[in-house]
Amino acid sequence: MTRLLEGKRLFIPVALILFGFVYSQITAAGSYVGALPFVMSPTADMAFVLFFFAFTASSLARLAPGPGPKFLMRNRRYIGLSFALVHGVHGVLVLSNLALTPESRGIPELMVGGLAYLFLSLMALTSNNASVRKLGAKRWKRLHKVGSYYIWLIFLATSLGRLVKDGPEPARLWIPILCLIALSLRIIAHRRGKKRKAT
Ligand code: HEM
Repeated sequence: MTRLLEGKRLFIPVALILFGFVYSQITAAGSYVGALPFVMSPTADMAFVLFFFAFTASSLARLAPGPGPKFLMRNRRYIGLSFALVHGVHGVLVLSNLALTPESRGIPELMVGGLAYLFLSLMALTSNNASVRKLGAKRWKRLHKVGSYYIWLIFLATSLGRLVKDGPEPARLWIPILCLIALSLRIIAHRRGKKRKAT
């Protein structure tokens, strides 16, 4: 049963949930522009869940080997690409909001967010065996490491920024908490890997 949703087939439930949700909000609001305030945060939330599992897959596999982490490791590439799809839609909605409504953002904020999208695009475009061969494993790893830590930082900063702006709403605490859990898992797994190598 689980094998049914592995590899490229992971895109099917992700795309159904993503586009089904956006479509339902457009229908409820009566227009694309009317739906924008209701779809931007949830698409970022959905993207974050996928990012969390791609970012922590190898740490979880090292710290708690079992069927769950094994599934994550087998499908990490497609979880990462699903994240790119969902966060790409977040980007399209954000750009629509800037283009079609009076909403505006400062250049520095756009540049910081834009850099995350540059990393996201490079990581998605190089998520294939041919690119790993072309770039070499070392350079490929460096790109994906720097890119994922930068995206992690923007998730943390965006969600904390919202908490500072709107007050500490408990329902919005889960992203910063999971960001810190993800970082802790990576640090602990890295240390354990180093210790194992040394012994
Ligand atoms: C310059 C590019 C970006 C702009 C202008 C932007 C704008 C927005 C807007 C307007 C919302 C909805 C906020 C609300 O409903 O009050 C949002 C939500 C969010 N965005 Fe983006 N975004 C950008 C890029 C990113 C990037 C690169 C990330 C992460 C890597 C990200 C993560 C989030 C998160 C986590 C939320 C949900 C925040 C929360 O509700 O706690 N965004 N963004």
